[in-house]
Amino acid sequence: MHLFQLFCIFVSIRHIRSEHCPNDDLELELDLDQLRIAAQVDKRFLSFALDSFLLGDHWRRTNLRDPKLISLTKQLTPAYLRVGGTDQDNLIFCPGAKFGNVHDNTIDALPCSTTRESKNSTIPITESDIKELGQFVKVTGVDLVYGLNVLERHGGQWNPANSVRLMNYMDALEIPVAGWELGNEPLRFPKVFNKSVRAGSLGRDFNLLKSLLSQISRYSNSAIFGPDVTSIRKAGSPALHFLAEFLQECDNSTLSGGVTFHDYYFSGSTATILDFLDVRIMDKLTTRIQLVKRIVRTRFQQPDIPPLWLGETSTAFGGGSTNISDRFVACFTWVSK
Ligand SMILES: *[C@@H]1O[C@H](CO)[C@@H](O)[C@H](O)[C@H]1NC(C)=O
Ligand SMILES: *[C@@H]1O[C@H](CO)[C@@H](O)[C@H](O)[C@H]1NC(C)=O
Ligand SMILES: *[C@@H]1O[C@H](CO)[C@@H](O)[C@H](O)[C@H]1NC(C)=O
Ligand SMILES: *[C@@H]1O[C@H](CO)[C@@H](O)[C@H](O)[C@H]1NC(C)=O
Repeated sequence: MHLFQLFCIFVSIRHIRSEHCPNDDLELELDLDQLRIAAQVDKRFLSFALDSFLLGDHWRRTNLRDPKLISLTKQLTPAYLRVGGTDQDNLIFCPGAKFGNVHDNTIDALPCSTTRESKNSTIPITESDIKELGQFVKVTGVDLVYGLNVLERHGGQWNPANSVRLMNYMDALEIPVAGWELGNEPLRFPKVFNKSVRAGSLGRDFNLLKSLLSQISRYSNSAIFGPDVTSIRKAGSPALHFLAEFLQECDNSTLSGGVTFHDYYFSGSTATILDFLDVRIMDKLTTRIQLVKRIVRTRFQQPDIPPLWLGETSTAFGGGSTNISDRFVACFTWVSK
């Protein structure tokens, strides 16, 4: 959709409102040059995500069979649905595990093994959790991007055993997967998990993922996205160094989907309505995109330069700003992206 089309939609919404509340609202007249395209976005703009937390919570908070949710989601397609986030590096697939009973949501018996040193932070997911997701993907037609757990490690390398079990199970259910990710915000691992994964190791882990996918015919052509780094602030940011080292170890064709980074404008707990309208804040994203582009272009040459993706983004982090992120005023930050 073109930018000017986005503006037309916003203006018509505003117009309808002003008819209903003539005293509260200002009449606006905008003269739009519909012949000039300001920017063009992908047909999958906007795409969206379900946090891995919801999967680890066995979809208790999000009923994926809800006809309203299905209907609304269909209207947003074509779009990617990313299932990822902090908890993706906690999830362990436990085929055969069952819930205790309907009232007690704890999981009985865990016939799943983990290579995690401390098992206390792992979260089991069951066959039925994956079935629910698969059903939702099929019925809505979204393009699933699934984030795998990179903190299953052995001897400084990713141990893919549990992820392979999961991918084989998804394959058996014939769940289409457009893309895969491996690990979420790796520079935050020390803070969040008291673990660390070196950038170079992560690059080699991605190469391993590529070769594992090539062995599953359904997924041999699905894309790989990564490394989902966050906190790109300015030149010299640790995240940029991490990205450069990571890309150095990635084979030329590993990141077939794209290089991803995460970006937010501000914290939800402190942002004000004026921040949401501040073009200087919005423009900082342009700088960050340029910084990441430079790193990517230093490493790759045509035709191997992978696309650049905002793999996760929103207005404000920390769940958004109450009564601002979900209001009309937040539209401008999205248009700016
Ligand atoms: C897991 O165990 C470690 C060390 O034993 C502890 O620091 C951490 O808080 C525990 N995490 C959870 C989620 O219980
Ligand atoms: C973090 O990990 C180190 C080494 O694995 C361990 O010695 C330390 O106790 C852990 N810290 C916490 C807070 O769990
Ligand atoms: C990978 O890309 C680099 C830089 O574009 C190039 O010099 C190198 O030959 C490529 N390696 C392979 C195996 O294609
Ligand atoms: C958000 O808006 C609702 C009603 O629109 C109001 O009841 C609530 O107090 C507001 N919350 C904050 C934190 O402003």
